[in-house]
Amino acid sequence: MYQIYPRSFADSNGDGVGDLNGITRHLDHLQRLGVTVVWLSPHFDSPNADNGYDIRDYRKVLAQFGTMTDFDRMLAAMKKRGMRLIIDLVVNHTSDEHRWFVEAKKGASNPYRDYYIWRPGKAGAGIASSAPNNYPSFFGGSAWTQARPGDDYYLHYFAVKQPDLNWDNRKVRSEIYDLMRFWLDKGVSGFRMDVIPFISKDPAFPDLTTDQLQHPDRVYADGPRVHDYLKEMRREVLSKYDTMTVGEAVGVTPEKGPLFTDQTRGELDMIFRFEGVNIGRDGWRTKAWSLPVLKRFYTDLDISAGTSGWNTSFIGNHDKARAIDALGDGSPASAKALATMMLTLRGTPFLYQGDEIGMTNYPWTDIGQFDDIAARNLWRDQVLSGKVAPAELLPELAKTSRDNARTPMQWTAGTAAGFTTGKPWLPVNPNHATVNVAAEAADPGSVLAYYRRMLALRQTTPALIYGAFHDVDPAHPQVFAYTRIMGANRYLVVINFSARPVGYTLPAGITPRAVAITTAVSTGTTLPNGTLALAPWQASVYRM
Ligand code: NOJ
Repeated sequence: MYQIYPRSFADSNGDGVGDLNGITRHLDHLQRLGVTVVWLSPHFDSPNADNGYDIRDYRKVLAQFGTMTDFDRMLAAMKKRGMRLIIDLVVNHTSDEHRWFVEAKKGASNPYRDYYIWRPGKAGAGIASSAPNNYPSFFGGSAWTQARPGDDYYLHYFAVKQPDLNWDNRKVRSEIYDLMRFWLDKGVSGFRMDVIPFISKDPAFPDLTTDQLQHPDRVYADGPRVHDYLKEMRREVLSKYDTMTVGEAVGVTPEKGPLFTDQTRGELDMIFRFEGVNIGRDGWRTKAWSLPVLKRFYTDLDISAGTSGWNTSFIGNHDKARAIDALGDGSPASAKALATMMLTLRGTPFLYQGDEIGMTNYPWTDIGQFDDIAARNLWRDQVLSGKVAPAELLPELAKTSRDNARTPMQWTAGTAAGFTTGKPWLPVNPNHATVNVAAEAADPGSVLAYYRRMLALRQTTPALIYGAFHDVDPAHPQVFAYTRIMGANRYLVVINFSARPVGYTLPAGITPRAVAITTAVSTGTTLPNGTLALAPWQASVYRM
């Protein structure tokens, strides 16, 4: 799977914003890489308060991205190459400019009122806030806003411009199922479902406790009817088509993950779990992390899938800082190590655009350079309110901001990295002089060349896809070593997760025989006593 963030992928008409024709033009790159399915981040009509995750019209293509004809052409071109397309289903909320909400806010008797969630404010002297309860929004402040003074409050887990839909209303669910059919009938093969665990709300809206306020997402992801609705969606829509679904499982605890993905339950096919990619994060701050904790997460995740579930494997997406900086050390060697891990864990890999060439975080120096609503609201709430010094927030934001993943795709060393002939909507990383598709395609030692080889190996090696996963050395602080075994086909993956060389002695009974792939320059690295001499960030896959 390959995730395209259309705004930042390729601009075909020089307006500085990526578009669908830009994607169609670059399908060779995806095919050469070995991509078989594309996940397209939202391409729908939107006022872009949250870059398309605020949809105004689910059946219209965003004008900046092109037309429905462009969409059909892109889809046909993908199919011709044997690729499938899944699109983003953002139905926890709409834009406040969606016609349903424009109607709903006209008043309590409007037929669309109940498409959204409204509650009266708390009245009385001495209360801290008159919002119906203390739910916070992910983008700062309360999750409740009044459409106008004196009116009830509507719920929005995200921005003020992203009102949450009322899934308890059967009409809302029918509208959503219809729009899903609209796109499936066009030939898309499924959906990545945005914050799908949040769709069901506790209608009593009790205040969160102090503990719950540490992780409101866990409460939001545990509504009373979420599983009923997902089963209904499968019955009424998904089961009628040949589809694949992946849910964004924000707030889903390890024990609850399988409830979404166990195939015997008839809900989703896979979910994204974020503990791995978030390991070095504490909100907007970075934090120290240790390899054994990361390894423990992957083992638990693997066990939780059981025999009738399946996982995803990913190191980045449009909401995360670049993997090479967050989990690696910014070096191409660390990008290759991470690629090896992502492509050999037991789960369907989702590769985020640009990671295949080792794109890094942007060297931000000023808050004015950021576009993301999350970054701008955070600055407002923390710095402009006087809580945190600018010199404290800016360097952390530079490391953790979502905009790091959204700078334009680097195609060439030329102007604007070959992304656009105009002025790019977000700055292009200056390292495009060396980190770009054209240069890396010509260099057998590049990150891109390694991704191509690693993907080819994975696709021709069933044991690396389906084989049982076993961490052979969970406590080792520097090396991640695991086996993938399917009958007689036995593989060992060894990754030096650090910039320091290490002499690594494998646990007894684990014997590598031949190297299937390695990031090392020379493969003759087995020392006589069975110790592997691993270079910084070296990753190797061996046949056993
Ligand atoms: C998750 C999406 O990935 C993110 O980009 C967006 O801001 C929120 N959901 C709200 O839709």
